[in-house]
Amino acid sequence: MELPFAESYRIKMVEPLRRSHRSEREQWIKEARYNLFNLRSEQVFVDLLTDSGTGAMSDRQWSEMMLGDESYAGSSSYYKLKETIRELTGFEFFLPTHQGRAAENVLFSTMVKSDDIVPGNSHFDTTKGHIEFRKATAVDCTINEAFDTTLDHPFKGNIDLEKLEKVFKSYPATQIPMVIITITCNTSGGQPVSMDNIRQVSAMAKRYGVKVVFDSARFAENAYYIKKREKGYADKSIREIVREMFSYGDAMTMSSKKDAIVNMGGFIGFRDEDLFREASTYNIMFEGFVTYGGMSGRDMNALAQGLLEGTEFDYLETRINQVAYLGGLLRNAGIPVQYPFGGHAIFVDAKRFLPAVPKEQFVAQTLAVEIYLEGGVRGVEIGAILADRDPMTRENRYPELEMVRLAIPRRTYTNNHMEYVAASIINVWERRHEIKTGYQIVREAPILRHFTVELDRA
Ligand code: F0G
Repeated sequence: MELPFAESYRIKMVEPLRRSHRSEREQWIKEARYNLFNLRSEQVFVDLLTDSGTGAMSDRQWSEMMLGDESYAGSSSYYKLKETIRELTGFEFFLPTHQGRAAENVLFSTMVKSDDIVPGNSHFDTTKGHIEFRKATAVDCTINEAFDTTLDHPFKGNIDLEKLEKVFKSYPATQIPMVIITITCNTSGGQPVSMDNIRQVSAMAKRYGVKVVFDSARFAENAYYIKKREKGYADKSIREIVREMFSYGDAMTMSSKKDAIVNMGGFIGFRDEDLFREASTYNIMFEGFVTYGGMSGRDMNALAQGLLEGTEFDYLETRINQVAYLGGLLRNAGIPVQYPFGGHAIFVDAKRFLPAVPKEQFVAQTLAVEIYLEGGVRGVEIGAILADRDPMTRENRYPELEMVRLAIPRRTYTNNHMEYVAASIINVWERRHEIKTGYQIVREAPILRHFTVELDRA
């Protein structure tokens, strides 16, 4: 018999969870103004809000915490992290930051100015926020296949080369500071970008004199998919694939809270020393001195160790299989989910789940609230609330896809939890025809509104 798949770790420390009753959840979600970000964590049973900073660190990472060097300048932890990043990515220069958006803030302060155009594959919301905050424009060049949730395509995170070239032809290179390749592409469903696409985007960018920046929050999951799905990579190690991916870029930002399995942290990697020096000034202003940025020494140590663990094949297989396990349970029940499954999350297609709810009443948010009410499972809306208003017209933007993202924290939940989540959603699916109305906005912030938006029943 072929030996079955099993987790590549075992559990040494646990954290209690409490199940709640529906009547309690009805009260709590109302008090939270129907915004799942406003719930207390004790009010949630299985928390799939995000896979960011929610993973379980290993015994080795905790051991590294004890060895942290808290010197203000030149700590051994900084050099340990620098060496790990250099070996893994090939980037000679790096700046630590407290998380991914801080890395964006520092890098974009150096590179992005008003009226600039920044093409990429469905920029993440903080990335887009940092671009638009500088009065520049993010242009989505993702392949059209990404927007059909049922279409089987191995690399739905790919950039459409024709769309990209159109941008390059329409604006002078001086107005295009970079093209951003997000690996994996979170916004389009945790979908990977192929090595071939990365190579071609990089070659085209070079021809037009534009820099390539990777948004690398889930770079290791991207490498796993390249190994599994792209011709010529089956026999390469994850780390060899990672090295090659980054070889096509000029810089990278990373939210280390994902694939590096730490609770807080980030960094920027640079090939070019001048760019690194320019960014260093902003790092000192916004984050901290260049050898710690927003991180303590112990956090840099845990991050260095996490980068190594996060790029181990067995760990990645465990991780991706668990996400696919949940995806399979939902798909087998006939529930419309993004397919192929994303690396870090399952995305439920809310428009097809709740066709009667009008888009003006926030379909994905409506579904996310229903799933919470059903089982105390917290997902997150990736839809019109997140898409925010057009910065010029201030009109609501209604994206093609309205999804509820169920992001799976790394090494945190068991497959029994996945069964529980699936059962909760299947119960909502069975009464979907009764759900006809959604929500209206009562209060919202001018930018990144989804975090604090207040809603009421429409
Ligand atoms: N880029 C991508 C692709 C991300 O997914 C995130 C965060 C960031 C940048 C920003 O990093 O949170 O460390 O400041 N994504 C989280 C999520 C929040 O839930 O998907 P950060």
